[in-house]
Amino acid sequence: MSVAVPLHPDAASERGDLDLLQRFQSLDALLAEHDYFWKPRPFETTHPSWRNVHPGLYNAINSLSDAEVDTCSAEPARFQEIAQPFLPWLPELSRASELAAASSRPLTFSPFDALHAPGRKWRQVTAFAAALPPLSGHVHDWCSGKGHLARAIAGANEVTSLCFELDAQLCESGQALADKQQLPIRYVQQDLLQPFDSSTEAYRGGWRLGLHACGQLHVNLLRAGVDSAADGVAIAPCCYHKLCLGEQYQPLSETARRASLTLSLKDVSLAVQETVTASAKERAQREKESQWRLGFDVLQRQLRNKDEYLPTPSLPKAMLNGDFTAFCAWAAQEKQLTLPKDIDYAQFATAGRSRYREVRRVELVRHLFRRPLEIWLALDRALFLQERGYEVTMREFCSREITPRNILLVGRRRKDAANESGLSAC
Ligand SMILES: C[S@@+](CC[C@H](N)C(=O)[O-])C[C@H]1O[C@@H](n2cnc3c(N)ncnc32)[C@H](O)[C@@H]1O
Repeated sequence: MSVAVPLHPDAASERGDLDLLQRFQSLDALLAEHDYFWKPRPFETTHPSWRNVHPGLYNAINSLSDAEVDTCSAEPARFQEIAQPFLPWLPELSRASELAAASSRPLTFSPFDALHAPGRKWRQVTAFAAALPPLSGHVHDWCSGKGHLARAIAGANEVTSLCFELDAQLCESGQALADKQQLPIRYVQQDLLQPFDSSTEAYRGGWRLGLHACGQLHVNLLRAGVDSAADGVAIAPCCYHKLCLGEQYQPLSETARRASLTLSLKDVSLAVQETVTASAKERAQREKESQWRLGFDVLQRQLRNKDEYLPTPSLPKAMLNGDFTAFCAWAAQEKQLTLPKDIDYAQFATAGRSRYREVRRVELVRHLFRRPLEIWLALDRALFLQERGYEVTMREFCSREITPRNILLVGRRRKDAANESGLSAC
């Protein structure tokens, strides 16, 4: 099977290498200046604070039908067209967030491997593998799972691979698959959140790969990579908010440490809010749950006489087969609230639906900043590598339908990079 994933290759030459620092500075200024649009969470605030400053935009979102909201949620570019007349700086935000497609090598993958990886995962793996530059020497695949990536690159590159993975079962089944094809891959069961001395001679040089290693894990990969003078590093980051230390986002690069934008991990989670995999049934269930939660939110604000959001725990899924009244009884018990007997549940259910209608529309505005924030975070990683002696490119390795976490950062160590090493730690 051969894979080539050109996205918008003509854009590659024009925008692909837009200076990383310039791009970062532009995004930093825009995200910080307009943070009142995206830092508050519509689910937790009854009306957006910006509605009096931008009444035109507020009216425009309120006049959208539910079907139009569905379209705009599925195709963010559609909503940009609607919002643009009210937000003149939007084209600049989009330009700074747009990435070119990575050029892809026409690789051949084993049909045997395709049988052992779920369809969407295999498309991610093959697109990522095809977008990598030719590799040589030793490769470390971080958070390898069964090591689909290491097996995918084995045929096209002169490499030996080490797959690091926490789950012993995945290591065992990955090793069996690699052995069956006599591939030079060894699986190592390793908790990569624990300090891990990768600076020893056996680990120096080579390539570090991380396809969807979550938050702290890909941060550790980058640190371990530069500490062990890796020849190259290639990651597709995800779950930027899953970091080990504290509630505030700690930038990696010097540049981002001096940035205007400061972020809590809760702010950071906006960057990964987009999902493209939910079925119609899952979406309907999520909608019902959101409406109930918002209805309960209106009720609890009245009950407590406090205009403040009260988070409720995650819901036993079976409860969605019940009704709103039972949900309120459950939520009240969880939050140790006593419900009076004469509550008009129908009224609060209606209020929940109406809040949901507004939340969906305000989220459209908030989501204008989702990709820019993700690019800001990815640029923090790119600039970290650049500051540590790497030439870095940042591209998309596949379309967002295959995965919205489609950013590929490739860093190649410059020949003149300082020969430093140290220990990586969480
Ligand atoms: C999203 S999956 C990605 C798997 C693989 N890279 C791929 O794309 O097919 C993340 C992987 O990280 C592994 N993982 C989670 N925590 C880990 C840790 N502390 N140390 C090492 N691996 C970990 C999980 O078991 C899982 O296999």
